[in-house]
Amino acid sequence: MKVLTAFGTRPEAIKMCPVIIELRRRGCEVCVCLTGQHREMLADVMGAFGIEPDINLNVMREGQTLFDINREVLSGMDRVLDAEKPDIVLVHGDTTTTFASALSCYYKHIRVGHVEAGLRTGDVFSPYPEEFNRRAVTLVADYNFAPTETAKRNLLREGVPEERVYVTGNTEIDALKTTVRADYANPLLDWAYGSRLVLMTAHRRENFGRPFEEIFSAVRRVVEETPDVKLIYPVHLNPNVREAAKALDGCERIKLTDPLGVLDFHNMLARCYLALTDSGGIQEDAPALNKPVLVLRSVTERPEGIATGALKLVGTREADVYAAFRALLDDEAEYARMASAVNPYGDGNAAGRIADVLLSK
Ligand code: UD1
Ligand code: UDP
Repeated sequence: MKVLTAFGTRPEAIKMCPVIIELRRRGCEVCVCLTGQHREMLADVMGAFGIEPDINLNVMREGQTLFDINREVLSGMDRVLDAEKPDIVLVHGDTTTTFASALSCYYKHIRVGHVEAGLRTGDVFSPYPEEFNRRAVTLVADYNFAPTETAKRNLLREGVPEERVYVTGNTEIDALKTTVRADYANPLLDWAYGSRLVLMTAHRRENFGRPFEEIFSAVRRVVEETPDVKLIYPVHLNPNVREAAKALDGCERIKLTDPLGVLDFHNMLARCYLALTDSGGIQEDAPALNKPVLVLRSVTERPEGIATGALKLVGTREADVYAAFRALLDDEAEYARMASAVNPYGDGNAAGRIADVLLSK
């Protein structure tokens, strides 16, 4: 059997590399096709996992639109699928690369395996456009690799036949098992030594504009009034995000950096006090590392972490972000509860379960 993996952004790469490694370890032929929706942020992950792409469509353009990505991925995948003739294509999650790659397979009657299937918020505009992308992929997926029972239930509710759904755990936890190291060191950690380190990320399209302004204003206020807190925000390369993040410039206990490599980010997360984020993947990383997370969004497709108490959904309004951040810093009992919550996203053996399914077909 020939498997082709199609992905193009940082989070897809982090979660797909463990699957590629496991399939190859078992002797399966895997063609690694990158769309290149991301460039630097993708290259870092491929290097960290030691995987050389077979194909790179290199679609990324500065300030690209959703139309640009779709157009370029569709035309690239048209050629790649004809040339490679895979038996099955694996896509991951919910990006525009994921959607356009799955659609390309549907047009050519090629089987699709969807890794991280079944996540839902119920609001097609939040996250935007990811909720649409993942729902659309479900329409054409032959194998749905759901990370949790909740994700499986979402799929069954939409009428996906049970024999097409496999609960595997999330491959993010597989990745974490290989990235976090006891002997890790970094000058950024030296800078934060002796303080409570808060790690923050924010990049979602639906948070552009007013939500970012309110989040950054609240965060700045809390850090400025709390002398033992230092905050590091690796700013996503999206120009919209970089412009908005300037609101945090000029505060001596806030450090804005370029995106961190995945090895650095996972190790810093393992050593921080808490995380603030609108990211999807970090809602999985942090509970596995016993770090509380305040989720800077109004809805999440990862309710399992809310249910176990590892995550708290705080929204994007200034008053709400301020209150939740302040409370978590001040209330030691609440902090201890969140930090000791169970990780619901798997045991780090998801890639093995996915390989078991694929290689039994
Ligand atoms: C994309 C995904 C989002 C995912 C996020 C993870 C879509 C529509 N969005 O959002 O679901 O959560 O990745 O990070 O699929 N850029 C660079 N270098 C890079 C990466 C990005 O310069 O390595 C800049 C470019 O100017 C690019 C812009 O960021 O045009 C936006 O990239 P894009 O992939 O369109 O959106 P993201 O916000 O990264
Ligand atoms: N991450 C990283 N460097 C950073 C910020 C995040 O390596 O500077 C990792 C993070 O640990 C997680 C993944 O990138 O594994 C999440 O990616 P992102 O937040 O860009 O996308 P999302 O998960 O929201 O789609």
